[in-house]
Amino acid sequence: MEAFECLLDRRSVRKFREGEIPDETMVEILKAAMYAPSAGNQRPWHFVVIRSRKTLERIMGFHPHAGMLKDACLAIAVVADTNGEKYPGYWVLDCAAATQNLLLAAHASGLGACWLGIYPKEERAKELALLLDLPSGIAPHSLVAVGIPASAVPRPERLEPERIHNERW
Ligand SMILES: Cc1cc2nc3c(=O)[nH]c(=O)nc-3n(C[C@H](O)[C@H](O)[C@H](O)COP(=O)(O)O)c2cc1C
Repeated sequence: MEAFECLLDRRSVRKFREGEIPDETMVEILKAAMYAPSAGNQRPWHFVVIRSRKTLERIMGFHPHAGMLKDACLAIAVVADTNGEKYPGYWVLDCAAATQNLLLAAHASGLGACWLGIYPKEERAKELALLLDLPSGIAPHSLVAVGIPASAVPRPERLEPERIHNERW
């Protein structure tokens, strides 16, 4: 898929149909996430791949906007190892970049995906850390629901020329 087509046609997919995601595809998607830029090249990310229906249901129990997990094949929790970080606080930005790479790679692979916000909601982070047995210093950042898209979501028009400022505001 051409890069600009991938960027513009990626949508949050919340309706999935039945199907399997091959392990090799998952590895490719996770590899793409690990190629995201990161401050000082710290690459603090780790990824927890969740396929257990029970765990996905538990997430729906505490996350108010996670209904699409019912039909998703799996979810990926993007978490950061904040132990001994060289550039404190940048893990949030690094993990956001990795999450965006996940979404784009899923789309390029013909899959549908949706970012589920965890950070900065402390209660959601606490629940997810408990559910996934995250050790101390491993901070939850986001969840990505992944599945086989039920249909293509059309591309909206989003170019807003009035938001482009030249030289000064
Ligand atoms: C930080 C962040 C948190 C989000 N959390 C949720 C969420 O909890 N549930 C959900 O259905 N979508 C969530 N989204 C997806 C947005 O709703 C979506 O990106 C936005 O509506 C634009 O649509 P698009 O992704 O199709 O371009 C989140 C997106 C971001 C960037």
